[in-house]
Amino acid sequence: MTTMKAVRIHAYGGPEVLVYEDTPLPAIADDDVLIRVYAAAVNPVDWKIRAGHLQEFLPYTLPLTLGWDVSGVVESIGADVTSFKLGDEVYARPNIARDGAYAEYIAVKASEVAVKPKTVDHVHAAAVPLAAITAWHCLFESAQLAAGQRVLIHAAAGGVGSYAVQFAHWKGAEVIGTASARNHDFLVELGANQVIDYQTTQFEDVVEPVDVVFDTMGGDVQERSWQVLKPGGILVSVVSPPSEAQASAHHCRGAYVFIQPRADWLAEIAQLIDAGQVKPIVDAVLPLSQAAEAHQMSESGHTRGKIVFQVKP
Ligand SMILES: NC(=O)c1ccc[n+]([C@@H]2O[C@H](COP(=O)([O-])OP(=O)(O)OC[C@H]3O[C@@H](n4cnc5c(N)ncnc54)[C@H](OP(=O)(O)O)[C@@H]3O)[C@@H](O)[C@H]2O)c1
Repeated sequence: MTTMKAVRIHAYGGPEVLVYEDTPLPAIADDDVLIRVYAAAVNPVDWKIRAGHLQEFLPYTLPLTLGWDVSGVVESIGADVTSFKLGDEVYARPNIARDGAYAEYIAVKASEVAVKPKTVDHVHAAAVPLAAITAWHCLFESAQLAAGQRVLIHAAAGGVGSYAVQFAHWKGAEVIGTASARNHDFLVELGANQVIDYQTTQFEDVVEPVDVVFDTMGGDVQERSWQVLKPGGILVSVVSPPSEAQASAHHCRGAYVFIQPRADWLAEIAQLIDAGQVKPIVDAVLPLSQAAEAHQMSESGHTRGKIVFQVKP
């Protein structure tokens, strides 16, 4: 077999540039594994890349296969790989500079791959890597969130937010989240102590001072967030670098994060999932052939948890 099905872009543009087509099977390097993709998740970065918004930052040679969240089975291994064997069930957030996981097969560096959680299927495992690594990085690496601290999580019901709420609750922090009213019960179930309806309430009017703000919105939401931070607190954003002037005026710190593959964290997160402490939230499951619909859903900005492609039943 030399070809496979994949969703690629040959030009930047709207959802119509996503093409479901036959493509060459990826070649693997000596330190790669070839993963048979069972499921691949959608992230906002996928449609931002598709639309050409990140061309300066991530200069690709087209055509490009999108999608950097995968769960599947090791199909073949490079000559130098000793950490995996054929048939291992694995998951990964692969290097975003390479072809992605909207495909039947993907070549991934073995060092970016972890054994998938055993208690969830591939669809739910694929919903984990990118969003969960992001939440883990921001809360535990950048903010060093500790038990007893208070954290405000914006867009708490989204792909990243739904992990952030669960991780912060697991750590013993007091969790405040923003979401529309339809997501309030859902967020309390995930561990939120207070949920604010951003459609009716300005969060800065009702939130008592917090140690950490996790900003997944940017713009005006980031700007208003300084008001609710305690002196010495930290605003961590995954959307835009926080203003240094604002940080210093509020005696706080700001940090911007753009995540990288972290197989070591994925191994820890798999343990939390298998222990029942954290659950992946899947909003919709689609076939690869409906990539355009999946992108439209993601771009609407109101997904609860993740959208996932089931590639192999
Ligand atoms: N820098 C990085 O490495 C990195 C990594 C991951 C993600 N990101 C970025 O982080 C952002 C969030 O990613 P995601 O995957 O979590 O997105 P997502 O899943 O598409 O987020 C959807 C959620 O946003 C909520 N929402 C929409 N408008 C809101 C508002 N004004 N206030 C509060 N919540 C609001 C929605 O809640 P309702 O339905 O209740 O409105 C929905 O649950 C994206 O811009 C993404 O590109 C960056």
